[in-house]
Amino acid sequence: MTIKTVGVVGCGLMGSGIAQISAQAGMKVVVREVDTKGLEGGKAKVDRFLSTAVEKGKMSAEEKAAILARITWTTSVPDLKDCDLVVEAITENMKAKRELFAELDKVCPPHTIFGSNTSSLAVGDMAVATQGARRARFVGLHFFNPVPLMKLVEVVRTLETSDEVFDAACAFGAKVGKTVVRAKDTPGFVVNLLLVPYLLDAIRALESGVATKEDIDTGMKLGCGYPMGPLELLDFVGLDTTLFIADIMFDEFKEYRYSAPTMLRRLVAAGRHGRKTKWGFYDYRQPAAK
Ligand code: 3HC
Repeated sequence: MTIKTVGVVGCGLMGSGIAQISAQAGMKVVVREVDTKGLEGGKAKVDRFLSTAVEKGKMSAEEKAAILARITWTTSVPDLKDCDLVVEAITENMKAKRELFAELDKVCPPHTIFGSNTSSLAVGDMAVATQGARRARFVGLHFFNPVPLMKLVEVVRTLETSDEVFDAACAFGAKVGKTVVRAKDTPGFVVNLLLVPYLLDAIRALESGVATKEDIDTGMKLGCGYPMGPLELLDFVGLDTTLFIADIMFDEFKEYRYSAPTMLRRLVAAGRHGRKTKWGFYDYRQPAAK
């Protein structure tokens, strides 16, 4: 099947990026948020990214206008009724996701594919909120932050995903310009399965005084050619998000490598969530904090 109209639910960092790349690939997009404040935030993110692209000479002002014209913004779930694919990018909360998918199941036609951008929850556990044949039309579509720049999407199949739906989801990933990695429905899929223990080990190295945070980051950037060091990346992803993912993975696997170090818990409890709160391992506050 060909996906012509894409619904995106939630337009935070991930949802706004998914909406943008879908519109850039020529599809019509309907973005749904719970309130107009959330919608305005999503619109501003897309506008800012596209404006930068125009400034950098990577696209024309006309192209930017055409991309924006393909996106409609709504607070109403029933407005997603004409979508061939709906991608959920709301908070990592199973109950909230199940409620959303149960509502979408009633609103969308039988052919609509449901995708979740979850990074660590089981996609199959969301699919059970829908009825009958819809459960075969469920996939994970795990994009990476910043969505317009990162070249990967993990496409995840549950025990029940049909071949037709999985192929359509992979084709969608390619259409939005990403390289597709196929994974089964296990917490963390491919990337977070390997990335999360690495990030947690970097915190353990800092905790035990192996090196300063700057030297740990420099070591991994220059020693391994990574674009960001692990502690910089933790600030970028969000310490709260990382703790949440680690707890889900530890709960599933019961393995030490997924257990959150004390330092991570204390920083999150103190509200130091990384760049989003302007303070995590590094201090982004301007002017410099007292
Ligand atoms: N429009 C078009 N292109 C743009 C752009 C825009 N608005 N903004 C930037 N770009 C382009 C730049 O022109 C540049 O392209 P060029 O090499 O052709 O000139 C490229 O994007 C890189 O941009 P910058 O030079 O501004 O930025 P950096 O080189 O500092 O890279 C970064 C920024 C891409 C974020 C890089 O630091 C990086 O890759 N970091 C790692 C990010 C990462 O690991 N993300 C995954 C996190 S894990 C995750 O998301 C999973 C979740 O489940 C936890």
